[in-house]
Amino acid sequence: MSLPITAKVPFGGDYNPEQWPESVWEADDRLFELAAIDTVTLGVFDWALTQPAPDRYDFSLLDRIVDRANRRGRMICLATGTGAHPAWLARAHPEVTRVDFEGRRHRFGQRHNSCPSSPVFRRLSTELAHRVAGRYAGNPAVVAWHVGNEFGGACYCDLCAAGFRLWLRERYGTLAALNVAWYTTFWSHTFSDWDEIEPPSALTEHWRGPDHTAFQGITLDYRRFTSEAMLTNFCDEKAAIREASDLPVTTNFMGMYRPIDYHRWAEHLDFASWDNYPPEGSSPAWMGLNHDLMRGLKGGQPFWLMEQTPSMTACRDVNPLKPPGVMRLWSWQAVAHGADAVLFFQLRASRGASEKYHGAVVGHAGRADTRVFREVAELGAELHRLGDATLGARTPARVALLFDWDSWWALEMSDGPSRLVRYQQVVLAYYQALWDAGVDVDVVAVTADLAGYDVVVAPALHLVDGDLADRLAQVARRGGSVLTTFLSGRVDVDGNAFLADVPGPLAPLTGVRVDEWDARAAEVANPVCLGTGADRVEVAARLVFELVVPVSAEVVGSYRADWYAGTPAVTRNSYGTGHGWYVGTALDQAGVCWVVRQVLAPHGLLGPYPDVPGLETAVRVAPDGTRLLFLLNHGTDAVEVTATVAGVDLLTDVRVAVGDPLRLEPAGVAVIRG
Ligand code: GLA
Ligand code: ZN
Repeated sequence: MSLPITAKVPFGGDYNPEQWPESVWEADDRLFELAAIDTVTLGVFDWALTQPAPDRYDFSLLDRIVDRANRRGRMICLATGTGAHPAWLARAHPEVTRVDFEGRRHRFGQRHNSCPSSPVFRRLSTELAHRVAGRYAGNPAVVAWHVGNEFGGACYCDLCAAGFRLWLRERYGTLAALNVAWYTTFWSHTFSDWDEIEPPSALTEHWRGPDHTAFQGITLDYRRFTSEAMLTNFCDEKAAIREASDLPVTTNFMGMYRPIDYHRWAEHLDFASWDNYPPEGSSPAWMGLNHDLMRGLKGGQPFWLMEQTPSMTACRDVNPLKPPGVMRLWSWQAVAHGADAVLFFQLRASRGASEKYHGAVVGHAGRADTRVFREVAELGAELHRLGDATLGARTPARVALLFDWDSWWALEMSDGPSRLVRYQQVVLAYYQALWDAGVDVDVVAVTADLAGYDVVVAPALHLVDGDLADRLAQVARRGGSVLTTFLSGRVDVDGNAFLADVPGPLAPLTGVRVDEWDARAAEVANPVCLGTGADRVEVAARLVFELVVPVSAEVVGSYRADWYAGTPAVTRNSYGTGHGWYVGTALDQAGVCWVVRQVLAPHGLLGPYPDVPGLETAVRVAPDGTRLLFLLNHGTDAVEVTATVAGVDLLTDVRVAVGDPLRLEPAGVAVIRG
C-alpha cells in the first residue's frame, strides 16, 4: 500500500464549510474552479458534529459536504475527525483529558487534548473512524484517509502511568533488567515493585522543565512510551478504517517535531504527509531538510505536503506575510524534494476562534481578485499543466544524513557538557552545507540500509545502538566517507555512557580518542585552522571543544587559542578504502561547509551550481526514468547560470540546450525535464 492514485499533483487543502452557511458553499466552489483546486481535506475537527451525543451519530452535514465535493469532481482526503474530542465526552469521562507535565488535570478545552491511554478515548475514536470509513469508503471522490491531526504532546495521568508500567514490563521483562538500564543505584532509585515507577515529570524526576531530568533512562523511555502510545491510537483508527477500505491512510506530521519518533511510526503509515510552517527566519535549507526527512520515512517514496499557509499563520506573536512569489517557490521546493501533493491550510478562512486571521486561499470577503488568490490560481494552473510528470519520481541521492530521535532526546536531556548544543542546529548546519553544495540528500533513520550511499553524514549521533557502528564502518570499508561530530558515540540505548574511550563504538572508524572536552558561553569562539598550504582557512568554533587525540587519524584542523591551542579539532581517518571524518567542535557555517566539501570532493558529488548562493537544485527521476532537474532561486537577486543538461522547462515549455543561459528571477523556478 502506498500513495493515493491520482492523475496529477493534488492541489487544494483543508476545507471546513461546516463552519459557515451553505449559501456560501456555491461561491467557494466557483472560486475553487478558478484556482484549479481539485482536492479538499474534510472533517479534520468534526467529532462534535458527527457524534453530537454519546448515543447519536449524525453525518447529514458531512454527507452534503462530501457529496458536493464529489459532484464537483474533487478528490477528498477524508479525516476521521478525532483531533479534538467533544465537550460531552470530557464531561462524561473526565479521565479523557490530559494531565500535563506539572501534574494538572486539564478540563475540556483546546484540541489535541485526549489522553492516549484513555480506554474511552480509544474506544470512541476507533468507533468514529470505523463509522466514517464505513460510510464514505464507497464514495469515488475519497482518495485517502487522514487520521487525527498532528499527533503530539504528552500526558502524565494515572492511566498513562499504568500504561508506562506495562510497556516497561514488556521492554525489560524483569525489574532487575530495568534497574540496570535506568542506572538506579544512583541516588537510591532501585525499584522493587513495578508500581513504584512514576512517569518522569515536574513532580518526580524533573527540575526546570522537560529537558532536565535526574535519570535520562527514565525520561528516554517515557518519550518512547508516549510516542508509541499515540502510535497505538493511530493504529487503532487505521485498523478500523481497514475494515471498510483499502485506500491509503496517513496522518499529518510536523517535520522535525521532537515528541514523536516518526521513524518508529513510518511503517504504519501508507504514505507520509506533513505540514510545512517554517519558523520565522528559517533558511530554505531548513525546509529542504524537513522535506527530505519526510521523504526518508517511507524509503524515499514521495510524500504529501498536507498543509502550508498560502500567506500567513496566526498562532505566533508576529505573523509575517509571504511576499509575492514565495508561496509558489516553496510549493515547488516541496515538489522538488518529493512532494506529490501541494495542499494548504486553509481553503477558506474561519470567521471566528483562534484561526480567524490565519491565511487562506479565500478570505472572509470571498474575493478572487486578491493577490493571494491570484498566486494560488496561477500555481493551480501550473500544476494542472504539469500533469503527472513528477508523480512517483524518486530522488537519486548518494548522500545520506542520519536523523535520530533517540539521539535528539538523549543529547538534549543530558546535564553537561552544554545546554547550548541543540540537535536540530547541529544537523541543520551539516544539511545546510550539503544544500549549498547542491547535492541531493536522503535524510534517513539510523536503521536505514546504508549500502547505496557514497557519503553518510551523522551529526551529533549521541546515542549509538545495535549494529549501527558496524554499518557505518562498512560504508567506509567499501570506499565511502562517513562524517560524525562532537558528542557522538557517547551513550547506549539506555542513555548510559560506554565503558570505553569516546566516541565509543565509532572509535575504530574515526581513529580518534577524546578524553576531555571544554564547554564555553555562546560568545566565546576559538579559531580553528583547517587544511594546509594554499587551502588553509581559519574559521570559528563555539560551544563545545573536544580535545581530539588522533589514534590512527590524520589532523585536518586544530584549535588556535586557549591552553589547548594546537590540539586537533577535525580529523580524517583512512578506513578500508574510505574514510571516517570527525569534527570535534561546533564549527561556524563556513567551517562546516569547508569540511563537507572536502568530504564530497573525492566522490564527485557537487551539484551543478555549488557556488551560486541561494540557488537550490534538486533532481527527481520519474518512474519511466526521465530526469527532472529543479532550479529554485531563493535569493533576492536574479541569477544567471549556464544549463548543464538539455531538456524542456516544464513551466515555460522552452527548450534548453547544454550551455544555454538560464535566468531565474528572484523566487524563480525552472523544472527541466531531460
Ligand atoms: C496546524 C493544524 C491546522 C491549523 C494549522 C494552522 O498545522 O493541523 O489545523 O491549526 O496548523 O497553521
Ligand atoms: Zn494520560
